[in-house]
Amino acid sequence: MRTNQVIQQIQVSGIRRFDEALPQRRDLIKLTVGEPDLKTPAHIKAAAVRAIEADWTHYSPLMGFAQLQRAASNYFQHQYGLNYAPSEIIATVGATEAVATTLMTLLNPGDGVLLPTPAYTSYEPVVEIAQGQLIPIDTTNTGYKLTPQTLQTTLRQHADQHPKVLILNYPTNPTGVTYTRAELEALLPVIQRAGLFVLSDEIYSALTYEQDHTAFATLYPTKTITINGLSKSHAMTGWRLGFIMAPQALINEMKKTHQYLVTSTSSISQAAAIEALTNGVTDGDQMRAIYQQRRDFVIQQLTKLGLNFIYPTGAFYVFVQVPAQFVGSSWEFATTLAEQTGVAVIPGSSFGANGEGWFRISYAASQTALTTAFSRLATWLAQPQAQAN
Ligand SMILES: Cc1ncc(COP(=O)(O)O)c(C=O)c1O
Repeated sequence: MRTNQVIQQIQVSGIRRFDEALPQRRDLIKLTVGEPDLKTPAHIKAAAVRAIEADWTHYSPLMGFAQLQRAASNYFQHQYGLNYAPSEIIATVGATEAVATTLMTLLNPGDGVLLPTPAYTSYEPVVEIAQGQLIPIDTTNTGYKLTPQTLQTTLRQHADQHPKVLILNYPTNPTGVTYTRAELEALLPVIQRAGLFVLSDEIYSALTYEQDHTAFATLYPTKTITINGLSKSHAMTGWRLGFIMAPQALINEMKKTHQYLVTSTSSISQAAAIEALTNGVTDGDQMRAIYQQRRDFVIQQLTKLGLNFIYPTGAFYVFVQVPAQFVGSSWEFATTLAEQTGVAVIPGSSFGANGEGWFRISYAASQTALTTAFSRLATWLAQPQAQAN
């Protein structure tokens, strides 16, 4: 079949492939997909029901209802000091569409896209679809964070690939690390000198522990495209509601891509989002407190088991090193673990070659599930014959 060659080359993400291939066990505990086990707050669901009954069941304006743009403008100003006018905000089909619309709008064929890795799985395929060139930056030797030195060196080494966009994602999927304001400020001169656009995916901003989240656009407003949404902050993954926020001239271009990809996001989800952003401003705080407790539990357990992990300061993931005694790839490790214990985690190689040797635990699962998972893990690790591949 002679379908599009780029699409032929790319694959469904490693996260989904691994998740779909998991053994059929009734007692399987999935610490895999980044899916909150918490429920969408009742007042948000009620607003959606009211919207259906009031016949909010037609197309909305392309960029979303004006009421939603205003609510988002106020919310992001209040939470992170972002100064976007309502007309500089597009409501998208989750952060996923926001990433695709942004890259498809910014890139010309051959433009370089800098990506600190290991990274969330969706960026690379979208860069390929948009005919850009991915320039991965290895962060494994710099605490899984981009530093001014590595950025500078990469820019110099890849000048012929026309670096144009830098993707930042913090708090970071899969490592759970985030950046301090000082770390972001240190990157700024290098970014400015190179004139880069920054796609800043801050979908986990509400889940930042022990420090405040600094939105990149507060430092670099002219060329930052801020991506955020309600999937993680309000446990609303299935509503498919995200945002692109950028200076007006960029938004005017993005609006066209967005229109021809999706027209607009669901009117009912927009009604729910208006409620979330006006009367649910503190919902995220309650969820953060719950996730933080779970994070503390998970790191305490990992420490007790003697496993090496990256200390997470955000999101709901911990990146853990495959125990040294296990011979085999991270994919084989995660498969064996799932088969022998019924605990499912994501192999690190799903997040790029330099994630090999590691695995990701999502602790967006219930406390009961986490407790059982760690008790099974402890028993398994104590049986050397079970872990040898
Ligand atoms: C870093 C990152 N960006 C974007 C998304 C997609 O978010 P949404 O569900 O709003 O499309 C995810 C989902 O896991 C993510 O981890």
